[in-house]
Amino acid sequence: MSLHLQGLPARTFSGVTYGVVGLVAAITIVANLSQRPNLYAIPAVGSSNWLGSWWGSFKYLMNARNVIQEGYEKYKSAPFKVAEPNRWTVILSSREHVEELAKSNELSFVEAINDQIQIEYSLGHGVHHNPYHASVIRLNLTRNLEVLYPHIRDEIVTSFTDLLDLSENEWKSVPAFSIIQKIVCRTTNRAFTGLPLCRDPDWIDLNIRCTVDMIAGGVIIGLFPKFMRPLAARLLTRVPQCIRRGAKLLGPIIEERQEYLDEYGTEWDDKPNDFLSWLMDEAEGAELTVDRLTRRILVSNFAAIHTTSNGFTQALFYLAANPQYIPPLREEVEGIVQKEGWSKSAVGKMRKVDSFLKECLRFEGVLFASLPRKALKDFTFSDGTFVPKGTLIAAAAVSIHHNKDVYENPDIFEPFRFAGMHDEDGSRSKHQCTSTSADFLPFGHGRQACPGRFFATNELKLMLAHVVVTYDVKLQDNETYPPSWHIGSFISANSHAKVLFRNRID
Ligand SMILES: *[C@@H]1O[C@H](CO)[C@@H](O)[C@H](O)[C@H]1NC(C)=O
Ligand SMILES: *[C@@H]1O[C@H](CO)[C@@H](O)[C@H](O)[C@H]1NC(C)=O
Repeated sequence: MSLHLQGLPARTFSGVTYGVVGLVAAITIVANLSQRPNLYAIPAVGSSNWLGSWWGSFKYLMNARNVIQEGYEKYKSAPFKVAEPNRWTVILSSREHVEELAKSNELSFVEAINDQIQIEYSLGHGVHHNPYHASVIRLNLTRNLEVLYPHIRDEIVTSFTDLLDLSENEWKSVPAFSIIQKIVCRTTNRAFTGLPLCRDPDWIDLNIRCTVDMIAGGVIIGLFPKFMRPLAARLLTRVPQCIRRGAKLLGPIIEERQEYLDEYGTEWDDKPNDFLSWLMDEAEGAELTVDRLTRRILVSNFAAIHTTSNGFTQALFYLAANPQYIPPLREEVEGIVQKEGWSKSAVGKMRKVDSFLKECLRFEGVLFASLPRKALKDFTFSDGTFVPKGTLIAAAAVSIHHNKDVYENPDIFEPFRFAGMHDEDGSRSKHQCTSTSADFLPFGHGRQACPGRFFATNELKLMLAHVVVTYDVKLQDNETYPPSWHIGSFISANSHAKVLFRNRID
């Protein structure tokens, strides 16, 4: 994947090992192919025969956007399928289908993700089958945003200052993606585990690296038949090292808090108000060990860091490529902050900041095929479209985001297109970045939408607001928006491109 594969297992394997792994993988892929759900009634983009679908899966890997767009235009609102290396994915485009996809509990997001990155084997049965950390994020983290605000803001300010390390009024060129990853990691972990761990370079390095290790590990594990996967996870991926390294850093903190918990119950003076605390309050039985809690924190970082860094880096590129958008953003942020200071309610009023980020997510996004779901049983949509148990399904997110019947001038980046929009009752709830719909899918939609989207969007807005009032930004002379990288359905901000920062001078 585009996610910097230098993180692949560093151990060197002999040719024999590679040969054996390759053979097992080839047998597994062929075995999986013969068990693919029967999808004959759904038309394919490209050829649907055995050999043709191999070629199709190669095209999808290299250019998913065009493959999906071809199906989107050819089949209009009807479902179609695209080939991936060892399966078909059914792609939906109509509002009705997407709403049904989002509503159903028989179509599972976690099972679809597990198919791709094998969390069940890399991080363990509990993380996959009892994802209580996700409800702690959805409920407790979201509800505590206001309390966490000053801390998150403080971490954003200090991490930009530390990591940019600017001198007086000089322009400095920095590798945007890697700096943003560190800032996002620090900020997120200020809320997850608090100070001082969130600033520990070892902890930051570990969490950024682990994201890659988990994805690469998932791909490797997925090459093996089910009964060999636990062994493959242990021997051929770096995830066990991630967990051990994480447990070493988190262990002393967890143990200290555990002593207080044992002594005083869930309430004591100066109890840290962070994700780890709430996790420990909610954890039951065997989940309350250093090892298990570490896995929860790692998987939450996994879900948070790449997605948020990706979104912010793209926004930063748009800003640097179009500095004319800086003054209106600045004016908005300063006007609000002068009256109210930095608070959750103040940031809630920053419509242009919200719209700018939403437009970046619409224009670029994270996945060409968003809302991944796996059918837990045979499923029939209300128009009669039938998908058998085991089918992977997704929505044609980027095609929908660029459909002229859905958005005016869809191929033009209009950063403030959502800023003036109101609902009939005068509220803005439907037009904010956090509100998902069948027309806006970066966070998924429905019951299984991203549980961290309120936290993530607030973090993104605070970061953008901070950048526009504190810095001038631009690209190198004559450079234009650095194109994102694509592999399969994944979209990643360009990780080589640089952005110039300077302390704001006017
Ligand atoms: C998390 O939120 C739920 C739902 O409001 C609540 O019942 C629970 O006590 C909260 N947990 C913690 C640790 O605050
Ligand atoms: C940028 O483009 C202009 C006009 O095309 C050219 O004169 C100038 O040398 C270029 N600058 C750089 C740094 O490449």
